Amino acid sequence: MYKISGVACDTLLKACGSPLVVYDENKIDEQIRLYVDNFKSSAFETEVIYASKAFTCVAMLEKLQKEGASIDVVSGGELYVAIQAKFPAQRIYFHGNNKLDEEIIMALDYQVKTIVIDNLHEVHRVIALAEQKQQPVDVLIRINPKVEAHTHEFIATATADSKFGISIDLVEEIKQMITLIEESSYVTFKGFHSHIGSQILAYEGFVAAIDKMVDFIKETGITVSTFNIGGGFGVRYTKDDTPVPTAHMCKTLIDSLETAFAKADIRVDKVCMEPGRSIVGEAGYSLYTVGFKKQTQHKQFAFIDGGMADNIRPALYEAKYECILANKEHEAIAGVYEIAGKCCESGDILIHDAPLPKVEAGDILLMFTTGAYGYSMASNYNRLNRPAVVFVKDGHARQVLARESFETQMLLDVQKDIEL
Ligand SMILES: Cc1ncc(COP(=O)(O)O)c(C=O)c1O
Repeated sequence: MYKISGVACDTLLKACGSPLVVYDENKIDEQIRLYVDNFKSSAFETEVIYASKAFTCVAMLEKLQKEGASIDVVSGGELYVAIQAKFPAQRIYFHGNNKLDEEIIMALDYQVKTIVIDNLHEVHRVIALAEQKQQPVDVLIRINPKVEAHTHEFIATATADSKFGISIDLVEEIKQMITLIEESSYVTFKGFHSHIGSQILAYEGFVAAIDKMVDFIKETGITVSTFNIGGGFGVRYTKDDTPVPTAHMCKTLIDSLETAFAKADIRVDKVCMEPGRSIVGEAGYSLYTVGFKKQTQHKQFAFIDGGMADNIRPALYEAKYECILANKEHEAIAGVYEIAGKCCESGDILIHDAPLPKVEAGDILLMFTTGAYGYSMASNYNRLNRPAVVFVKDGHARQVLARESFETQMLLDVQKDIEL
């Protein structure tokens, strides 16, 4: 039986039910430490900010806090989890292309240190609300550096028509934003943010974005004390993915930053990075129980007790995964299977052509590298309950998110008259 950090998969399913999301805590800890230890420079201060959208819950945020990482949030909901985890406000960055007034107010009330401003309209709202609340806040402006990242179009964020950030070409508008900020008594301009996309396996795109941003800072003469290079570092989903090892990626980026700053003769006090996927992706596993099977003209299906409701990525952007049968780890491959979920959509196929031993009802199907954007994008489609999430470490397991139940889903099913 396949074990995750010393705990057998059948034991986990017996204790917590199926389907189940399992994280190997040692792998998460190791990734956080690799970033914190290697993204360091003698020329400037550094900060590793975990993009909490990849996976968030109180236990996860407590871990990041302990290991010395910061976090970013992109909504009131993600901020609410951070507040529940008592995450230090000084180490929270608030992102988003359409922050609502109530979200900005929530951030100001919690004294979040930094808001990353996405557009000119937001400058006005942040200034007005910070003044109304008399609450100081630092801001970065998100620049779209227009660097093509080699990844799926849904997760590329720096194309010319991206919805995120302000184009690097709009120099006058960027300067206008900074002037407005500098005139305000509560908001302080700290610098720029850029993020080129996600699941990027090579470092060239990051280096190109750094060089372009440093040239921009030099040419515009804007004084920048903080520069945030974003996240997007790829992980291994299948054997075709060969990400740059984390320590090497960090060192390459630090070298590029130091060289670019020296060449441009500019001084930046602090550089931040924002990994999400690469901290939790490979640490996460999804366990399912096989139910029925079906043979069609060309395909052999194995049906599992989850699917696109707990992992929308294959249906959303053709994400690829690998799997094994945890209870038949050492058995020979007997055929290829379509791993299909139980949702009422033909697109609810988690893996096409998965090579597996003979699949039978009751087998435990384990999918690798499901730790990022799996649970966090999960839905209740077909009224499926979101799975429980457990952390395992050296033979011990603890539940960090409870399985949803029909009863908890029904808490929202209210009927009441609305006073108009
Ligand atoms: C602004 C920003 N920072 C960081 C990230 C994290 O990216 P990843 O999880 O690929 O590291 C994202 C995700 O797309 C993002 O939009």
